[in-house]
Formats: sequence, C-alpha cells, structure tokens
Amino acid sequence: MPAGPIVRLRQEQLPQLEALLAANALPASDCAEQSENFYGIFDRDRLVAAGGLQPAGEYFLLRSLVVDPACRGRGLARLLSEFLLDRAEAEAGIAVYLLTESAVEYFIRLGFETAEREQVPEAVSRTRQFASLCPDEARCLMFRLPRN
Ligand SMILES: CC(C)(COP(=O)(O)OP(=O)(O)OC[C@H]1O[C@@H](n2cnc3c(N)ncnc32)[C@H](O)[C@@H]1OP(=O)(O)O)[C@@H](O)C(=O)NCCC(=O)NCCS
Repeated sequence: MPAGPIVRLRQEQLPQLEALLAANALPASDCAEQSENFYGIFDRDRLVAAGGLQPAGEYFLLRSLVVDPACRGRGLARLLSEFLLDRAEAEAGIAVYLLTESAVEYFIRLGFETAEREQVPEAVSRTRQFASLCPDEARCLMFRLPRN
C-alpha cells in the first residue's frame, strides 16, 4: 500500500482524524481545540495514520497515535512517533508524556519508561487528556529528552 509523507493536518482534515480516533476507541472531543498539533499520513485522500504532539509547559504530550487497522504492522506508528519525539526535542522539550490503555509494551519498545501518574508535571496533568478524557486505568509513560 502506498502511503505518503508525514504532513501537518489542516483544519478541514480534522473530521477524518476524529473519525479515525473514534473508530479505534480513542478520545476525540478535544481535537478541535488542539487543531494545530496533529500530523498524519495519507493514502491518496484517506487518513491512515495520525498522532498529536501537544505542548504542556516545558513538556509535551504525545497523544492520539492511531493507525487504520488495515495499515498496521508497517511501521507507520513508529515513523510518526519518531517524528513527534524529534519535534519535541527540536523545541527543547524536557520530556514527552503519554497515556495509553492498550499499547504500553509498544511504547516501551520505542524507549518510553513507565511513570507514576501522580508525579507528572502539573502542566501535563492539567491537559484534558490527563484531567478527564483518558480513563483512570490508562498507564502513564514518559520519554526523557534530549535523545542520545
Ligand atoms: C498501537 C498502534 C498505533 C501501532 O500501529 P502500527 O503502525 O501497527 O505499529 P508499527 O508498525 O510501528 O509497529 C508494529 C509492531 O508493534 C507491535 N504492536 C502493535 N500494537 C501493539 C500494542 N498495542 N501493544 C504492543 N505491541 C504492539 C506489533 O506487534 C509489531 O511488532 P513487530 O515489529 O515485532 O512485528 C496501532 O495498533 C493502533 O492504532 N492501536 C489503537 C490505538 C492505540 O492504542 N494507540 C496508542 C495509544 S495513544
């Protein structure tokens, strides 16, 4: 399957993002307010992979990483994750946090480490993903920057 480069999503592409997230049981209700922070990969006009990098003080939240089930196992999520970590580093972030219920092992393989949800920086814990959208059961992971 041909898939294009990583692009920043435009406002008019947000409905595709919201649909992809909803279809994969990820929260989508705060996408509009974070509309400038999403990136994706398209196959022709179809969004097949996406992820967000939301600034939170000196930190970042990697969020909404999703790949269309038909396109999984081809490295698209890894490509997006590396891209988002590089961006966070380029913007002098101290660490990248994320919450996940179903992909803990996936992110540990990418170099994330587990973190206590109670100990995340306040700017991160105030994001809507942390404060209300992700279930309490979701595990918190962290990637320290800079990368070595
Ligand atoms: C997690 C997800 C983004 C991975 O996408 P992907 O493009 O298939 O991932 P990649 O191609 O980069 O990596 C594939 C590898 O990761 C493994 N993997 C995929 N999903 C995994 C998961 N949930 N947990 C552990 N390992 C996983 C695959 O088995 C494969 O392993 P291999 O390289 O040994 O064969 C995708 O499964 C998805 O969209 N899941 C639903 C949404 C979600 O949980 N997002 C994360 C929270 S924000």
